[in-house]
Amino acid sequence: MRKIQFFDTTLRDGEQTPGVNFNTKEKVQIALQLEKWGIDTIEAGFPIASIGDFEAVQAIAQAASQMTVAGLARCQKKDIDRAYEALKAARYPQIHVFLATSDVHMKYKLKMTPAEVLAAIKEHVSYAATLFEKVQFSPEDATRTRKTFLLEAVQTAIDAGATIINIPDTVGYSNPTEYGKLFAYLIDNIKSDQEIIFSSHCHDDLGMATANALAAIENGANRVEGTVNGIGERAGNTALEEIAVALHIRKEYYQAATSIRLAETKRTSDIVARLSGVAVPRNKAVIGANAFAHESGIHQDGVLKNPETYEIITPQLVGVENNSLPLGKLSGRHAFVTKLQELGYRLSEEEIKPAFQRFKALADKKKQITDQDLLALLADEVRSEADSAHLTGLQVQYVSCGRQGAIVSVAQGETTRVASAVGSGSIQAIYNAIDDIFQQQPTLVSYEINALSGGEDAQAEVHISIECPETKRRINGIGVDFDVLEASAKAYVQASSFLKKEAAQSDD
Ligand code: KIV
Ligand code: ZN
Repeated sequence: MRKIQFFDTTLRDGEQTPGVNFNTKEKVQIALQLEKWGIDTIEAGFPIASIGDFEAVQAIAQAASQMTVAGLARCQKKDIDRAYEALKAARYPQIHVFLATSDVHMKYKLKMTPAEVLAAIKEHVSYAATLFEKVQFSPEDATRTRKTFLLEAVQTAIDAGATIINIPDTVGYSNPTEYGKLFAYLIDNIKSDQEIIFSSHCHDDLGMATANALAAIENGANRVEGTVNGIGERAGNTALEEIAVALHIRKEYYQAATSIRLAETKRTSDIVARLSGVAVPRNKAVIGANAFAHESGIHQDGVLKNPETYEIITPQLVGVENNSLPLGKLSGRHAFVTKLQELGYRLSEEEIKPAFQRFKALADKKKQITDQDLLALLADEVRSEADSAHLTGLQVQYVSCGRQGAIVSVAQGETTRVASAVGSGSIQAIYNAIDDIFQQQPTLVSYEINALSGGEDAQAEVHISIECPETKRRINGIGVDFDVLEASAKAYVQASSFLKKEAAQSDD
């Protein structure tokens, strides 16, 4: 069987999802879980993009021990140098250089002629090859590029030293037949005396990202790029968990193996959902909450007689454990730490202490602490930084004529700020008071509330997204609490704190 390599870009293309912004601690946690999942190469970020991106790539380069760590670079010497600096500590470093090749991108975005584009590819891929053993090149918007020019661009990159060629369907325009044929055409026509790895990179604008990637594999691609839960720019990227499970379930058809440990799939998905703030839709293939639920009587009857009647994927295959042992009030530190590791978190000694205290406080209020409770607690611990603001008090009361009033207090470092406001409902009153504290007027783009687990003592989980009217920057926030108003306030404070911090950083 041939081997299909998995290239994960959750921390780069995935972070381009509106509202998602991971801090370095979060990126390292995700990277370590991706390594445990069996990812071959992680795209840790775009080092030239910001100091934060650079530092995160550096931290992942240090933390990863088995997987290759890649950094993105435009066809510019300064980008390649920055990626080289960030990846110095990586055991297996790789650079990913890209340049657009479609007419529309060359003419309007790059303002370059095709000849200039070819020259830039030659110059920068050659330069990258002097610093990196593994050089990947991507002709951006490949699927809307003239085929003969695409071949010329790819051949130029190969001649300059690229050994990995990634073919991005940047705007999710292609379909499986066409995308598969494109791989067959390029593979048949390139000339090289070295082994060239072809890789797929699909976006889901027409809902075909998974099908397109599988078509590429059928036509010779030995590598697939994508993200966990399919997060990413616009409609997102190929969901890697879908590819991993499809190749496994249909292995007789695809005749391809991977290094993915499928039993780590659900855990990987949970960590990314928590830390990105992007909830997994219930009907999402492979890892959605309904993926293993059988509703109709006929289906239930069939599954009871033989699960194979309606279930091609078992929950056990992807690590959806029904029998996972919940923790409780009497669980000690050892059980807690073991559970953290099981959930994919590796915390330092100083980080374990406050997390354990919070766990104990939660266990006083709730009989059984589920994995979902713990994931929420840990994500909150990893998300919050020493300088982030947090909710310290909330009071809500009915005022008159259907109006509600709220008094909110928020602490940040040594400072506590208190504000009061009214609104047509409790949430509006709370959010108006928080706006007053942060001196902001963002747009509330979305507000969602879910129960974290089943049962009457379930905690509420609120996901919100706010947008700064001036910069149009979107930030997600998550709040978890037994009380829905507190959860709503926590989510809004978290997002407001990130927004403020970003504004301060861009002022510097
Ligand atoms: O979608 C795209 O074209 C990309 C490139 C940077 C590979 O993400
Ligand atoms: Zn992309």
